[in-house]
Amino acid sequence: MIEQTLTLPCGVVLKNRLCKAAMTEGLAGADGVPGTALNRLYSLWSEGGAGLLLSGNVQIDRDHLERPGNVVVDGEPDDTTKAALSAWARAGTRAGNHFWAQLSHAGRQCQKIINPNPKAPSAIKLGLPGGQFGEPVAMTEADIEAVITGFARCARILKDAGFTGVQLHSAHGYLLSQFLSPRSNQRDDRWGGDLENRARLLMASVAAVRTAVGPDFPIGVKLNSADFQRGGFDFTESLQVAKWLEAAGVDLLEISGGTYEQPRLLNVAGIEPVEDQAIAQSTRSREAYFVDFAQAMRQELNMPLMVTGGLRRRDAMEDALESGSADVIGIGRPMCVMTDAPKRLLSGTEELPRYEDTLSLLPGWLKPLEKLNLIKTLATFAVQYWYYQQLFILGETGKTSDDLTVFAATRQQMKLANALAAARS
Ligand SMILES: Cc1cc2nc3c(=O)[nH]c(=O)nc-3n(C[C@H](O)[C@H](O)[C@H](O)COP(=O)(O)O)c2cc1C
Repeated sequence: MIEQTLTLPCGVVLKNRLCKAAMTEGLAGADGVPGTALNRLYSLWSEGGAGLLLSGNVQIDRDHLERPGNVVVDGEPDDTTKAALSAWARAGTRAGNHFWAQLSHAGRQCQKIINPNPKAPSAIKLGLPGGQFGEPVAMTEADIEAVITGFARCARILKDAGFTGVQLHSAHGYLLSQFLSPRSNQRDDRWGGDLENRARLLMASVAAVRTAVGPDFPIGVKLNSADFQRGGFDFTESLQVAKWLEAAGVDLLEISGGTYEQPRLLNVAGIEPVEDQAIAQSTRSREAYFVDFAQAMRQELNMPLMVTGGLRRRDAMEDALESGSADVIGIGRPMCVMTDAPKRLLSGTEELPRYEDTLSLLPGWLKPLEKLNLIKTLATFAVQYWYYQQLFILGETGKTSDDLTVFAATRQQMKLANALAAARS
């Protein structure tokens, strides 16, 4: 089943059911332009066998990066930038696979070193320890209109550059997901309040992107099945938004979950959701933790669904596809270290390594402190740095590092991020 083709509603055909999930690379220059490192990384991934590659989030506004080193497309590009975007698109499609750009705006999840006062639906600060994030400012009507235009412009430019599709990032607590959640969106105008209002920005952005790219070009959306926070965007709301997205002609809906405040997307051991919104018991297991949500959505939706998170065993992937819960399987973390994981699965490998267990690389003396929220949060971010550093090394050398520690990775990545942020100003 994983080797079967998939025809999307727009008519485009994916050559198999495996997708390299979106993973922020941080490999662009301080100007947000892609270069050699991204081309090297995506050449490897293209040759790694997936039918679909999703880029890490490409930002539509350079003042709202998710991280220094994001690719940015926030205005009409000059010829040099156009050439750089085309080279990246060529690298990512060299094996005849699809390469879609993930379009994003970080909103309040933008680090202070980029912007101490990022724009967000409401002036509600991220509830995280560590002081990395600034004080958000509520968007004006004009700011919101600029976001819609920004998504459409970015999609058009990337289509012209040779990308074969786009995905709007409306999950994980970034701007579109902030608008969806009643916790972060407390507006009392037509962009806040009931679900229809909270989903207005997402729906308007999807419509504007469709107008910009035409009917034959794939548009995907990554959506939280739930935020897993009390009073947050929940599964009932997610299902309703999914129905609206289907009616709007979305080609592939990727189901994920969580935010920075509740990083459920990574299912890190020890971090339990504040609010248990699981549909079924098996969602708690480390394998395939969003498949049950996909299954519940499938009862009411016809559009192709992609499920990402924890899928490592080929039989679990086949089950998800055969049961109809999912049409595409997303693979994230293993691709940071095994760039040809899809090829291996297609030629019979039973199971991918569970690199998420790098959490165990943390030193023993931290273990007794693991129950403290601050330690859990810091550990989650530190392990992310391990993946970031592997991507950095892959971009530089084409190979990964076997003996990289979480601490070394964190040190190097913080240095890089600070240097990139300083080079911006
Ligand atoms: C290093 C890293 C970077 C990520 N960056 C993004 C991103 O830019 N956009 C996104 O939607 N998800 C991002 N994610 C989440 C992944 O797409 C995926 O949902 C998550 O890793 C769970 O899948 P997995 O268990 O196969 O790793 C990232 C995850 C990791 C580990």
